[in-house]
Amino acid sequence: MKFNLNGRQVTFDGDVETPLLWVIREQFKLTGTKFGCGIGMCGACTVHLDGVPVRSCSVPVKHVTGRTVTSIEGLSKNRSHPIQLAWIEKDVPQCGYCQSGMIMSAAALLKNYPKPTDEQIDQAMTNLCRCATYHRIREAIHDAASKK
Ligand code: FES
Ligand code: FES
Repeated sequence: MKFNLNGRQVTFDGDVETPLLWVIREQFKLTGTKFGCGIGMCGACTVHLDGVPVRSCSVPVKHVTGRTVTSIEGLSKNRSHPIQLAWIEKDVPQCGYCQSGMIMSAAALLKNYPKPTDEQIDQAMTNLCRCATYHRIREAIHDAASKK
């Protein structure tokens, strides 16, 4: 089966039920997408599927045939996405484990709501962070929105 991953056509020949997360990490060695809970709850594995954030641990790879997947590695060249710049500016990460998922969720949020309210941020950002960086995440999203 074939799909587009970060701008290039790729082929996967394994079990079609394999979660997309493991195909991205193990076959394509893109390890920015993290495994947290494996049951769609934490958001550490968030990638974009046709531009929409999904939890890749819960998406069998068969569902992405012919579609476009973007992982954190494909979000921008040189970490230049406004969300990535704001994350650096606001020094958001602590341990960092949840952060690629957070960034992918936040990037999708800004596409839909270029100037999101706190409420819209809360609704979109359901990812979990054990280091409780939520306050800086909200600040960084507002910062990125203000520079668009
Ligand atoms: S690892 Fe996918 S939601 Fe937690
Ligand atoms: S920065 Fe450590 S889990 Fe979020």
